[in-house]
Parts: sequence; structure tokens; C-alpha cells
Amino acid sequence: METLVKENITVLNHPLIKHNIAILRDKNTSCELFNSALKRIAFALFFEASKYLPVELKEIETPITTTKSEVIKNNLNIIVAPILRAGLVFSDVAQTILPFCHIHHLGMYRNEETLEPIWYYNKMKGKLKDPDNTYVFILDPMLATGNSGYDAIHNFVKQGINPKNIVFMCLIAALNGVKKLNTSYPDVRVVTAQLDEALNAKGYIIPGLGDAGDRIFNTL
Ligand code: URA
Repeated sequence: METLVKENITVLNHPLIKHNIAILRDKNTSCELFNSALKRIAFALFFEASKYLPVELKEIETPITTTKSEVIKNNLNIIVAPILRAGLVFSDVAQTILPFCHIHHLGMYRNEETLEPIWYYNKMKGKLKDPDNTYVFILDPMLATGNSGYDAIHNFVKQGINPKNIVFMCLIAALNGVKKLNTSYPDVRVVTAQLDEALNAKGYIIPGLGDAGDRIFNTL
């Protein structure tokens, strides 16, 4: 898939991605259609986000001959970290693509006045055994202010994980959020399907798609 690379951000550049983004943006899109469009994009995002996972050669016997094929390196600790609740929408796609991943939920909600995240769930503390061999995919459909993204990244970096091994994956990224993550953690790659220009006073992305959690879980 062709990609545009700018700063440490990869924006998927494909007509089918744009087509599905248009479905997501439309306020008249039903919950069912919203989730199916989102899943289609999620697969593309995950393949892009995971493209630098280390590989090794494995000897394989085909029905014809013996050959060596690249496989994902054995014994990697792959953590997929959906930020609750909207990030959950990417979890089953993550498990389909990376069936050996560990899912660690990060519970945060946004203080509507300060736009700062308030943590309510994180069972990861003190449990990481092999930080050098750990790769993390943080999932949140919307990268708006970047405040919760920053906290999520910090949560893993403080456990000794190399920021180069962390990817922040989202559907729509606002410039503010990208700048915040790229400035604080320049080695963390942001992978998104769409880059939007601005935020409104309530911290929602413009043009965006509204509240992702409400649209995914039909709680509008
Ligand atoms: N979270 C959302 O769900 N939507 C936005 O536009 C910003 C943050």
C-alpha cells in the first residue's frame, strides 16, 4: 500500500481508505455501517502499523521443495493496548492479524474541562518481563489533543520499552495530537488513515466524525 510519510507519521493513502473515511464522517451513517467501514480500515492500519516487526528465516518444506521463508521473530512480546472504550473496536482485528499478541486495556476518560485524561483501569503495572523484546501497538480511533496518547505511551516507556518499538494507531489524527506525540516521543510512529487540521473548543476533531465511542457503541 502506498503511504505518505511526514514527520513520524504515516497516513494511509488509498482510494478505498478515503471512501470508507467518507462513510465514517457522514452523520447519517448507521452504527452497523459505521462499524463495518471502520473494520475495513482497521485491517489496512494494522498491516501498516506492524510492518517493522522483526523477522527471521525459517526453513519450510513446501509440497515441491525445501525453502527458507521470513516469519515474525519467535518469542517477541507483542502488546496491543486499546484505550477504552473506543479503542476496543480495533481489538478483534488485532487478534486476527497478530494472534499471539497480548491485549492490555488502558482505561482513561477525558475531563471535559481540562481535556486531560483520567485513568481508571491499568493492570499492566510492574508486570513486564522482557522490555527489550517488547513491541507495543496503542489503539485509539481518534488522536485529538494527544493527551491520552501521551499518557499511554508514557505508561510503556516508563517500563523500559524503547519508543522505537511503540506505534500509536488511529483512524483520524488531528495536527495538534500528532505534534504533541512527535514532540514528546519523536521515535513513536503514528499510523493513521486520515490527518485532520483542527480541534474545536471541546477538543473534538474538525471535520472528524464526532464522538467515536458513541458512534461505535450506538450511545448517541
Ligand atoms: N474523541 C472522539 O471521539 N472524537 C473526537 O473528535 C475527539 C476525541
